[in-house]
Amino acid sequence: MEWTREQRYLLYQQHSALELLKLQAQADNSPEQLRYHIRPASGLLNDPNGFSYFNHAWHVFYQSFPFGAAHGLKSWMHMQSTDLVHWHSRGLALTPDNEYDSHGAYSGSAKQIGDRLFLMYTGNHRDADWVRTPFQLGAWMDKNNHITKLEEPLFRNPNYISEHFRDPQLLEHDGKYYALLGAQDEKTEEGHLALWTSDDLKTGWHDLGYVDFTPHDMGYMIECPNLVNVDGHPVLIFCPQGLSKDVTNYENIYPNTYVTGDKFDFENAKLHGSSQIPVNLDDGFDVYATQAFNTPDGTAYAISWVGLPDIEYPTDSQNWANCLSQVKELHLKDGKLYQQPVAAMTNLRSNKGINVFSNETKIINEHAGQQCELNLTIAADQSGTLHLAANHDLSKSLQIKFDTNRGSLAVDRSTVGESVAEKYGTTRSVVLPTHEDLKLQVFLDHSLAEIFVNDGRHVLTLRYFADQSQQTISFDHAINSTGTLYQLKNI
Ligand code: FRU
Repeated sequence: MEWTREQRYLLYQQHSALELLKLQAQADNSPEQLRYHIRPASGLLNDPNGFSYFNHAWHVFYQSFPFGAAHGLKSWMHMQSTDLVHWHSRGLALTPDNEYDSHGAYSGSAKQIGDRLFLMYTGNHRDADWVRTPFQLGAWMDKNNHITKLEEPLFRNPNYISEHFRDPQLLEHDGKYYALLGAQDEKTEEGHLALWTSDDLKTGWHDLGYVDFTPHDMGYMIECPNLVNVDGHPVLIFCPQGLSKDVTNYENIYPNTYVTGDKFDFENAKLHGSSQIPVNLDDGFDVYATQAFNTPDGTAYAISWVGLPDIEYPTDSQNWANCLSQVKELHLKDGKLYQQPVAAMTNLRSNKGINVFSNETKIINEHAGQQCELNLTIAADQSGTLHLAANHDLSKSLQIKFDTNRGSLAVDRSTVGESVAEKYGTTRSVVLPTHEDLKLQVFLDHSLAEIFVNDGRHVLTLRYFADQSQQTISFDHAINSTGTLYQLKNI
């Protein structure tokens, strides 16, 4: 379905409540629907926003257009959890309802200040001629989840930054507040990270300029920046658009990347000891707009949008699209980011492991289904294919092709079911150490696969769209391996 501008930007109250209920039922009943990840109640979900800890609970919001699989008038939907795994919807949180966010309550972050949570986000405003002005806005959420927007913007784009100025991450350092934003230079049309500061959050925001973190051109825009401290090092996570493939090797339409550093100098907006060349945060097909934050005890957690801008997905025809990844704990080893499932993910296991296997195994399970976790160690110096979500003769499956002799792993989604974004390729690969055992932790959730390689050294996240009758997990031939398969519960 083609969406007109009028349909995309119709006010929420102008939509019919009955229509919304039908859309929710359609999303609930979809065979491809996620059962243990955050997914849209209806319509389209994109970026995670406001990932935070407040009032003895974890909070994450998501960008939502509830009326169909389109990027229309965006709001924030609120999800809450006590273990980072079981999430409960707290409903609509920020709606586009004033002059400043009239065309969307766009992405932003959240931080506890005093006994309230401060939400900082971009208000997308357009005038009658469709000229856009981005406003950086604030709102307070109290312990009853009641939200009150500030009446006036915190700041707007200075004249050297174009209409593309958004996605503030609110940070606190040495008693001052900072906001890190994605920006496009008005004159050069190049993407940058911008840093602003304020002593008291509300007034006196001033511009510290672009962040110095790389000598390379970052394309025409950077979206969704995050600065997070991982094991004592600053890590910048961001989404450059139009980045040259001579700088970073990526295949998705837009990558979600990171650089590491030794120290972040807030006053001078500089990442000292920067690794300079952005590398892919996720090696799969569909991760974007990852949001990371440090908990009060310093742990770094991240959650990603699994979906990409400007890409169509097969469930668009069922009027819903996209999901969030599971929460990942971040660590840094030898300058590389490791991403691991949080400990509470094990609470989703509905049994002690229905299939524990060792030694020469071909068929792992013919009834594994598509809501499971597979932990596997493949002994060194072997090659083969692991078929996931496969039919009986393995002619249809999501394939993981590995070679622990030469050190390579590739995920191929071309034979699993309906195709997705084929223009950007049907395989993604990573380099492995040679002659070493390969550890895989694979999560399937009906149309989402999250593949953790070697304790999170790589993660390959992807959507796939297979018939749900494809229940088998099997190697193509007997492989020397050990492992456990678990069924997982709904959240
Ligand atoms: C990234 C993004 C953000 C923006 C939001 C709007 O996916 O384009 O830059 O704030 O989505 O939904």
